[in-house]
Amino acid sequence: NARHLSPAWRPSIISSLDKDIYHYVGQDIVIYESIDSYGAVMWPAALALCAFLDNNRDEVDLQGKEVLELGAGTGLVAIVASLLGASVTATDLPEVLSNLRANVRRNTQQRCRHTPQVAALCWSYDLESTHPRSHHRYDYILAADVVYHHDFLDELLATMKHFCHPGTTVIWANKFRMESDFTFCEKFKKAFHTSLLAEDGDMKILMGTCRQ
Ligand SMILES: C[S@@+](CC[C@H](N)C(=O)[O-])C[C@H]1O[C@@H](n2cnc3c(N)ncnc32)[C@H](O)[C@@H]1O
Repeated sequence: NARHLSPAWRPSIISSLDKDIYHYVGQDIVIYESIDSYGAVMWPAALALCAFLDNNRDEVDLQGKEVLELGAGTGLVAIVASLLGASVTATDLPEVLSNLRANVRRNTQQRCRHTPQVAALCWSYDLESTHPRSHHRYDYILAADVVYHHDFLDELLATMKHFCHPGTTVIWANKFRMESDFTFCEKFKKAFHTSLLAEDGDMKILMGTCRQ
């Protein structure tokens, strides 16, 4: 029952020299990008996921939910989830956090019930010592365009599994570009009960829940 993602996921976006303005949840969201890392620019799955969350609030009700975002980048998804009422922890590599934090703060201050948190999280097999599984219970794990050509795909899947408890839903949005994306998808399907929430060509939004 996957929904077809209408071209509406391509936002009306007003660009100026150093910032873009997006419009979700009835609000203008001002995002600054920087050119020094992958996490500093907007990727297409972030836009697809924001549009999906904004347009399908009954299906994915984020109000009052605990949400972890992996590879949050510029922070748009975390901001939209916060505007939709979730209590969000946006995570990424340490070098991405200052721009992420600034974007999140600028767009959520005085607008959100739960102040979003921004934290470093490097995908790893060994998160138990730094992020004990029993201390982290999330209703949703969100991840947009975290699967592309990099060397940490297995660590990423291990990280998703680490934070996924019974009752947690992983929502992974990705533009499928390369063979490695499909390989990761097969592993994702083995790790989680998986269904397709939406797709538009090579843009897919998948949902996974615990197998145990
Ligand atoms: C392609 S970008 C997507 C950013 C954002 N989700 C979006 O859709 O615009 C991938 C993100 O994953 C982060 N990332 C890459 N490798 C990582 C790792 N090993 N641990 C944690 N985050 C990582 C990058 O810093 C970047 O923000």
